[in-house]
Amino acid sequence: MTLIGLAYNQKPEQQTLPISSSADVREAEGENSRSEEEPPSSRDEFAEWDSPETITAVESALKKIGKVVRLEADEDFPDRLRRTRPDIVFNIAEGLHGVNREAHVPAICEFYGVPYSGSDPFTLALCLDKARTKETLNFHRIATAPFTVVHSAGDLEKARALPLPLFVKPLHEGSSKGITDKNLCWDYNQLATQTEFLLENYHQPVLVEQYLPGKEFTCGVLGNGDEAVVLPLVGMNFETLPEGALPIYSFDAKFVWDRPENPLDIFECPAKVSPTLRSAIESTVLAAYHALGCRDWARVDIRLDAAGVPNLIEVNPLPGILPNPEDNSCLPKAARAAGIGYDELIESCLRYAAARQGVALEGRQKFPSTAMSAQPAMAAAGLA
Ligand SMILES: Nc1ncnc2c1ncn2[C@@H]1O[C@H](COP(=O)(O)OP(=O)(O)O)[C@@H](O)[C@H]1O
Ligand SMILES: [Mg+2]
Repeated sequence: MTLIGLAYNQKPEQQTLPISSSADVREAEGENSRSEEEPPSSRDEFAEWDSPETITAVESALKKIGKVVRLEADEDFPDRLRRTRPDIVFNIAEGLHGVNREAHVPAICEFYGVPYSGSDPFTLALCLDKARTKETLNFHRIATAPFTVVHSAGDLEKARALPLPLFVKPLHEGSSKGITDKNLCWDYNQLATQTEFLLENYHQPVLVEQYLPGKEFTCGVLGNGDEAVVLPLVGMNFETLPEGALPIYSFDAKFVWDRPENPLDIFECPAKVSPTLRSAIESTVLAAYHALGCRDWARVDIRLDAAGVPNLIEVNPLPGILPNPEDNSCLPKAARAAGIGYDELIESCLRYAAARQGVALEGRQKFPSTAMSAQPAMAAAGLA
């Protein structure tokens, strides 16, 4: 029987949901008081890590294919991996420290010669640097907003070359960490204030880029090479945000205003777009997926510019995969719209990874029919 190692980072118990009493939540609610002992990043420190529920759901999907051994990606991971020597590692670990944290588990797997799922260390590190990602996209002539990187307040002059309004965000984060309505800057004073706030509180450079005023989509991709398919597009309906909120997918939109017990109806999947726009978005998404070297699966964020052209915001080669439909997790949502259930999504990723690396898995090889199976469902939804 195939031995599958499941590499993950589990959220500490009290961080399974954001702390509603935290400073940023109070700020979101209009109170600007922020205590010294509670830095603004405290509420989102572990936002990328997985909940016990997600880890169990992935484990149970993998159990249909082989024997699963949990390999928590803590400091004992290398030793645990070396002793366990699974046939393949299913990697959902977001990593512990530093700007290359997402690359560590795949790099350790490569070091021990253990096959693993998903993108390689280089792609994971590249995509966690939003500026380096955009440089690569520019080289490949894939549309992305003009930008500059601010390392310290002294760099702010550079940003004056970019036309207002501008959007600022931490260079190396995910899960909408550090993203609030204040990040949309209408003048250079606000740009300076918010950039300095992010530099100080997130301890990393700040990406300053042109604000993209158009619609936003997030797009799941499954497969490799010519077989890679874009799943039904997820459109964001920002009108469902509380009154006065800006049309951005902020930390509050993601974790505070959208709760399983009271879900925001923010996503439309399949998004209602013209066939021309859909195909323009899909081409941009696939071009970026291939240019950045993504493998097996990913989720790609797109926004339209003032002219309606799809621009790439960022690529998530370690996509969120919350199992409950009420949790509004976009890759599982897009897969469901294509007729691919949660277990089948996990299985597809594993099978694509196994096929690439010559790992034999028991059971029916569903790919490439898994990708193909998206087609009838997409056709039924008027998408193919
Ligand atoms: N250039 C931009 N113009 C307009 N909105 C943006 C821009 N960049 C980011 N956003 C908004 O901020 C959100 C989070 O940014 P993103 O780069 O996707 O960060 P994360 O890695 O946290 O998901 C996006 O979903 C989008 O709503
Ligand atoms: Mg994003």
